[in-house]
Amino acid sequence: VSRGRIPVAVLGATGIVGQRFVSLLADHPWFEPAILVGRGSVGKAYGDAVAWQPEGPVPLPRERVVGLEALRERDDVKVVFSALPGGEAGPVESALARSGRFVFTNARDHRLAADVPLLVPEVNPDHLEMVRRQPGPGWIVANGNCSAIILTLAVAPLARAFGIEALHVTTLQGLSGAGHPGVSALDIVDNVVPFIPGEEEKLAAEPAKMLGELGPDGIAPAPFAVHATCTRVPVRDGHLESVHLRLARPVTLWQVEEALRSFAAPEGVRHLPSSPRSPLLLLGEPDRPQPRPDRMASGGMAVSVGRLRLSADGRDLRLVALGHNAIRGAAGQSVLNAEQAHAAGLLRAAVVGADRPR
Ligand SMILES: NC(=O)c1ccc[n+]([C@@H]2O[C@H](COP(=O)([O-])OP(=O)(O)OC[C@H]3O[C@@H](n4cnc5c(N)ncnc54)[C@H](OP(=O)(O)O)[C@@H]3O)[C@@H](O)[C@H]2O)c1
Repeated sequence: VSRGRIPVAVLGATGIVGQRFVSLLADHPWFEPAILVGRGSVGKAYGDAVAWQPEGPVPLPRERVVGLEALRERDDVKVVFSALPGGEAGPVESALARSGRFVFTNARDHRLAADVPLLVPEVNPDHLEMVRRQPGPGWIVANGNCSAIILTLAVAPLARAFGIEALHVTTLQGLSGAGHPGVSALDIVDNVVPFIPGEEEKLAAEPAKMLGELGPDGIAPAPFAVHATCTRVPVRDGHLESVHLRLARPVTLWQVEEALRSFAAPEGVRHLPSSPRSPLLLLGEPDRPQPRPDRMASGGMAVSVGRLRLSADGRDLRLVALGHNAIRGAAGQSVLNAEQAHAAGLLRAAVVGADRPR
């Protein structure tokens, strides 16, 4: 670990999300991957343990994958990025927070806990304050589900400007969203699977929390229902979402375009290292967004929106949104969350660790 960068652990480093973490953190200006944690691959060199999916060569190919107990012994590593499977992640992350670690997780286990923020710094930066309500000494910040983050970013400006009465969404989710090795080739080639276990329930609950108002008693969820149909499609990366919104008041197409186009991160978030120049890109071509050309927009951190259609009464809006499930929908979102926490001074204890000799 070099002086100056904060040493971090990546849990589940060999998986789809873990690989994105390692790829994003290898040259990160503030964080440095110090421990790569796995289960089946413990003891192997990282380069031998992964079926590498991101673009470019494997970073840290000779680093040994270690088990969770190795992290417990590393007092200097206080920041943890978790890409553990749902169900297994919960107790591990709680124990790490109790031992003073700052955990940024992609797993579902703590997402709906009353004192855990589902952070998207462009949308709800104030929710980060909730970590002070956790028992300590460490805490947990969670990411929403990949489809929920993409949907939340796409509709946040519309919810704020016009209000939403109801939202219907059909997702077309890429294969990497199911982890590695994920869906069997025989099930998905030449096919679409119109069911992803647990996914529709997550879309019903998580955007409402992300778009909710933080008050003294916690988050009051945004007051609209999300009705979701989730499908798995033979696309490698990227989740496309066909969205139908019933707006609370009549609008013009020009007002909708303006709201989407002018959506920007707050000042304190805009200059974070992983912050895309524009979190939402409004595409005018009639056949966009599409997964292949659009998923890596702004390094996979921007959500692309297009195909705007408005009903004659100005209240039924249809649109298509697209984002990278493993970057904005997972690892990239967690890294941006950690950057916001660091900029807010919440990771000071971790910096001290970085300055200690190894
Ligand atoms: N894929 C996505 O686009 C996406 C998006 C949002 C959220 N998520 C969430 O992110 C998490 C990771 O998903 P994924 O798609 O990356 O899954 P994955 O490809 O199946 O990877 C799982 C990883 O966890 C490791 N692991 C499993 N049990 C472990 C344990 N007990 N201790 C330490 N490491 C353990 C595995 O290590 P070994 O290889 O060493 O066994 C592997 O590296 C899940 O909670 C998922 O729901 C995924």
